[in-house]
Amino acid sequence: MNLKGAKIIVTGGSSGIGKQTAKDLIDKGAEVIITGRDEQKLLKVALELGCTGFHADVSNEEAAKGTVDFALEKWGAIDVLINNAGYAEFGLIHELEIEKLKAVYATNVFGAAAMAKYCAQVFIKQQSGNIINIASTAASKGYPQGSIYATSKFALSGMTQCWRAELRKYNVRVIQINPSEVPTAFAQADRTEREEEKNKLSPKEISDAIITSLEMDSRGMITDMTVIATNPF
Ligand SMILES: NC(=O)c1ccc[n+]([C@@H]2O[C@H](COP(=O)([O-])OP(=O)(O)OC[C@H]3O[C@@H](n4cnc5c(N)ncnc54)[C@H](OP(=O)(O)O)[C@@H]3O)[C@@H](O)[C@H]2O)c1
Repeated sequence: MNLKGAKIIVTGGSSGIGKQTAKDLIDKGAEVIITGRDEQKLLKVALELGCTGFHADVSNEEAAKGTVDFALEKWGAIDVLINNAGYAEFGLIHELEIEKLKAVYATNVFGAAAMAKYCAQVFIKQQSGNIINIASTAASKGYPQGSIYATSKFALSGMTQCWRAELRKYNVRVIQINPSEVPTAFAQADRTEREEEKNKLSPKEISDAIITSLEMDSRGMITDMTVIATNPF
């Protein structure tokens, strides 16, 4: 697809991978709405990037619906949903805090599903659309302390396959991107952004993967893309 003029929602676009992706899409001529929970940060980043900030917590279904309604009212169409909003909690199974499990699922799983539900309704009518789910290398590999985060990404991966099977007949592509570690505000208790590290991934490589998968002609679909650092050691 041609990204010039494309109408794109990036959830969690106020920092890290989402912010870089929004920036690169805007540079390609796309029209972008970013969302986030911290309204001040969101509006500051939207101003900096030259896009629209819509304050919405994806874990709230009404807010997810409100985001899609807002985009449709503004643009009359939506071409791409990037389900990027997400965060992590870690802990051992014998110390599991069920409330943390529910809260992470509310964003990473239920939030992504709510955004996909309302965008899919638009995409089916349009007979076109794209959903990019930002999962993780943790979406296919369990590890100690991964009961909350890794399993939320396993669930997102399962939903990706279901949505793809349902929506491809409407010309809708559903694509999963799996980043390995990217130093960002992710998993930082105080939400401060980490500095880039020379040999580790940066948000740019993830944005490049997203843009590559979108720019391919819409008759073809890259189903999954995993991005790892070449030599992080
Ligand atoms: N960084 C990594 O190593 C890594 C690796 C694999 C996958 N990922 C995935 O990549 C995605 C982006 O992560 P990142 O590294 O860019 O993290 P980040 O810098 O912490 O950015 C996360 C973004 O999501 C937003 N967000 C979180 N919960 C939200 C909610 N309920 N509703 C709306 N917005 C919400 C945050 O806004 P607020 O600050 O306002 O909440 C922020 O804009 C996540 O899904 C993450 O799981 C990251």
